[in-house]
Amino acid sequence: MAARTVFVAGAGTEIGKTYVTAALTRRLRGQGRPVRTLKPLASGVPPLSDPAFAESDTARLLDAQGLAVADEHVEACSPWLFAAPLAPDQAAVLEGRSVALADLVAWCRAQIACTEGTLIIESVGGLMSPVTETATGLDWLRELAVPALLVSGSYLGAISHALTARETLRLHGVPLLAVAVSESEGAPAPLSTVAAAIARHAGVPVFGLRRGDACPEALADLV
Ligand SMILES: Nc1ncnc2c1ncn2[C@@H]1O[C@H](COP(=O)(O)OP(=O)(O)OP(=O)(O)O)[C@@H](O)[C@H]1O
Ligand SMILES: [Mg+2]
Repeated sequence: MAARTVFVAGAGTEIGKTYVTAALTRRLRGQGRPVRTLKPLASGVPPLSDPAFAESDTARLLDAQGLAVADEHVEACSPWLFAAPLAPDQAAVLEGRSVALADLVAWCRAQIACTEGTLIIESVGGLMSPVTETATGLDWLRELAVPALLVSGSYLGAISHALTARETLRLHGVPLLAVAVSESEGAPAPLSTVAAAIARHAGVPVFGLRRGDACPEALADLV
């Protein structure tokens, strides 16, 4: 049976996609729902033997799934891992590798087909960050034809970034389940104010996650 799948897209980079994805994974597990979480493509990741690996998205997502940081789990979560802290296509070149959208999509489709329950896929950077030499995260999402969860920050300027991403998804016919606004460190406006402003225009449920918050039950219920 194919998994119910959600693609976690970002309004920008470093804004809380992994935080929200990990929180959502923990919540689903807490509800007794089977869940598998992937970060298929990741750059800036040190080797497994380096203690800094624990800070990587892959390590955080394995931890949320209750899986040990072991070669087979890392490979199953993140088959395209690159060391350089660059866009994945550029990081791949430095390792004599390349990323092709068709391979990425085929791999994700295979995981969707063989997973039971819910499959969560964390994207890379912002919605239109490059994932290969020619494709963006939006192309990846459109090829997969699965619904998105959009993660935004609450920093000054976040409302426009979130709504621009939301509008882009709408223009491309991508179904959006919800927007999760993850509180940015030192944000000048209260989280609730930012979330309310996004909600006025988003046309989907909007959830604010304060620093350190768990995933709201109501967000997990939508997934
Ligand atoms: N609500 C929150 N509470 C506490 N820490 C948070 C929250 N949101 C984000 N962070 C922290 O901010 C940093 C950046 O967040 P995160 O790694 O989730 O971003 P990202 O969008 O996944 O980044 P990337 O584009 O590199 O994948 C991390 O250290 C993360 O733990
Ligand atoms: Mg991340």
